[in-house]
Parts: sequence; structure tokens; C-alpha cells
Amino acid sequence: MNSAQQSSPTLNVLVVGNGGREHALAWRLRQSPSVATVYVAPGNGGTARDARLVSLPQLSATDVVGIRQWAQANSIGLVVVGPEAPLAAGLVDELRAHGVPVFGPTQAAAQLESSKAFSKAFMARHGIPTAAYDTFTDAALAHAYIDRMGAPIVVKADGLAAGKGVVVAMTLAEAHEAVDFMLGSDESGNKFGVQHNAGGARVVIEEFLQGEEASFIVVCDGTTVLPLATSQDHKRLLDADQGPNTGGMGAYSPAPVVTPAIHDRAMQEVILPTVAGMAADGIPYSGFLYAGLMITPDGAVKTLEFNCRMGDPETQPIMMRLQSDLAAVLLDAAHQRLAGTELSWDSRCALGVVLAADGYPLTPRKGDAITALPVDTPDAVVFHAGTTLVDDTLQTSGGRVLCATALGDSVKDAQSRAYALVDQVTFAGMQFRKDIGFRAL
Ligand code: AMP
Ligand code: GLY
Repeated sequence: MNSAQQSSPTLNVLVVGNGGREHALAWRLRQSPSVATVYVAPGNGGTARDARLVSLPQLSATDVVGIRQWAQANSIGLVVVGPEAPLAAGLVDELRAHGVPVFGPTQAAAQLESSKAFSKAFMARHGIPTAAYDTFTDAALAHAYIDRMGAPIVVKADGLAAGKGVVVAMTLAEAHEAVDFMLGSDESGNKFGVQHNAGGARVVIEEFLQGEEASFIVVCDGTTVLPLATSQDHKRLLDADQGPNTGGMGAYSPAPVVTPAIHDRAMQEVILPTVAGMAADGIPYSGFLYAGLMITPDGAVKTLEFNCRMGDPETQPIMMRLQSDLAAVLLDAAHQRLAGTELSWDSRCALGVVLAADGYPLTPRKGDAITALPVDTPDAVVFHAGTTLVDDTLQTSGGRVLCATALGDSVKDAQSRAYALVDQVTFAGMQFRKDIGFRAL
């Protein structure tokens, strides 16, 4: 029997993570007719305040054994892992080894995101279009390569680097500095911000690609692929794509840059060969697969990166548009029975504006009181990310604090509804972009 057809809700779902992505996933999962309870570990101020969700602040997202034990003890029928860190730490492997149904890639499959060297070699091996590149462990060779190739050029750390792992260097000096940071260490031998993979410090240096970016995210069960609605993120902190890179300052769906022809190319040239290649390599991929695409001016599709998870903040507008029973879809994917499933979408646009803390992205200030928030409606929701409940009052607790997300009949309409939500939020030092969606207007 298809889980969507069960008459009374019996499925307990555990969402792992504490960001806006996880709040949006939990919000949508809670609306699935098959779902009894949605737990979020550890969750945030928004999931803690929401009477329809149960937060587990005592459980850290990367406590692999603790989460598995809790899931077993609490009859969890589906675990949905949000962020990359628990995936790279092997949470899916641990849950599967103990028979707990889980949607997400194994540690080996998550290398598509956790190791740039792995993903670039994978793409080269399977003919998946991406920027030309080379990999270095030796700083002198990396510096010489940069001098030979010239700027602009892109330097990427091989390992999770909390947002500091990619430097798009417009000058040679920036590129050299990035190599020193990513391959170097301080006086006491501690590596800088990069969590290196086995084998030590490595960088990927690659060709600078020009064009427009889009987020192409699919649900995968190892063989069958179900594309989600397209979306576009805004990575830079400031309006008109100025300022430093961030985790993402806002997103909307659908992304008009992904025309039907580009969609077809993305599936045929990137997604399907990736899923087939992973299976052929003995590492079948199941979970959300996120291809960050560059659509070049001549209409070609190149892969900038893979993420082994949903995007944040892309999830927030995508979940607002999803009409299918998310729990049923992810449970089917977890059990390798996605074939024949179709997703249905609200034809309206959705747009989310991230409200970030003072000092984000480098030194976000925590502990500011959030003194005003609008009331959510089915078409307009403020998802929480870096928030925490302290004695029943909400405070900021991270860089990206909230994501004000709304549906509208056009991008412009969704944009004005989302900014109408933003107008009702107050906390000290709040930063946000005023032009989310500008490429589609
Ligand atoms: P990532 O952290 O891998 O998502 O990369 C951050 C951002 O760097 C991407 O969203 C792109 O804007 C940019 N980027 C990465 N690789 C390239 C490239 N080869 N050419 C141009 N921009 C890039
Ligand atoms: N918003 C980009 C990401 O989640 O990686």
C-alpha cells in the first residue's frame, strides 16, 4: 500500500537540523496526511514555538549514535536529514545499519559535496559538464598554476569550510591569498577554517565560468529521479550581487532562466548521468541532490557544484509551492520505490527574503531580541533559522535568522508579499537584501 493512502496518520518523522531549510521541511511534512508527529533535532526557536512540531534541543544534528538511538526508541518511521554535516558524518549509514528508514545519501555518496576533489574527478570520469580544473596539495605548484592560468580564477578548498571554501578571485593576488589560507596553517600548526578531508589539505583550482546561476534540486532513490521545482539563490550579501558571499540571502521559485530546453539539458547532461554514474561506481545516490548550475550565455549547462542536500534558502520557497504529500514521497524514496511518482506544484511563484544578524556573514551577533513577527498564513510564512527561545522570548542565535517567504501570482507579487512580511519583523541589526528576485523581474 502506498503510504499516502493510509487512513489514519501513523508515521512519526524526525527532521535533523536547525536551519530555515529544516523548519520549512518540517512545516511541509506536518501537512502530510500520513504523518502523526514531526520531531526536529535539535530544531530552532521557530520549531520550538510551533505547537504542531516537537523540537529536541538536547539532540545535536551530528550526534550520529544519539540520533539513531532516539529514533529507535521513539518509533520513528522516517528520518529526513537536512544539513551536510550529519550526512558527511555518516548518519544515514548508522540509521540504515539499524533498520531505521532514512532519506538522505550515505557518507560515501555525500562526498559529492564534502569533497570537491571527489566531485570534480567524478564529473571528469562520467563526462558531466563542469569548469576545467586541477587539484593541488602543494602550495608552490598551486601558485605557479594560478600565474599560468591568470585571473579571474576560482579556488576551492577540498573539505567543508563553513562558507569560506570558495574564492572567486578576480585578481591574481586574491587567488594567491586564497591558496595560502586553504593550504596553510597558523603558527601552532592549526589549519585555518577548513575541515580537511583524509589525505590533508587540498585545493581545487578551476576555470571561471560566466553566466547565470540556478539551483537544480532533485529527489532520488538510487535510480529514479524526481526533479523539484527550479529556484535561484542570491549568494552575495548586498543588493545587485555586491559584497561577500554568504550561505544565501534569498531565493525564489520557479527560476525563469531554467527554460524547458535548459531543464532538459540539466536532466540529460548533469542529473541523470550523475545518478547513473554513482550507481555504476557502486555508490548509489539517494536523497536530495542539488546541482548548482551555471547557464552560460550560449545556453550550455555547467555544474558549479553538487550539494547532497536541499538548498537553504531555496527550500523555503520550494516547500511553499509543493502540493504533493512530502512524507509519502520521501518515504517512497527511502524504500527505493519512487518510480511512477509525480510531484504537483502550486503554479504561483514563491519568494523568500533572508533576514540576517548584524555582522553576518563574518561575525554574526547573537542574543538580539526578536520583538515583532507577523502571524503565518498558508501563503505567507516566516521560517526560522538562527533563532532560539529563551524564557519564552525569541532571540537571534545565528547568522541567518529568519526567511520571510510568500506566494504570489507573479514574481513581483510574491516579492511584494514577502517584503510586506519583512516590514513586520523587528530585531536590532537586521540586515536583508531589498532586491530578491530581481533577475526575474
Ligand atoms: P559554492 O560554495 O561551491 O556554492 O560556490 C560559491 C559560489 O561561487 C557559487 O555560487 C558561484 O557563484 C561561485 N562559483 C563557484 N565556482 C565558480 C566558477 N567556476 N566560476 C564562476 N563562479 C563560481
Ligand atoms: N543556498 C545555497 C546552498 O544551500 O548551498
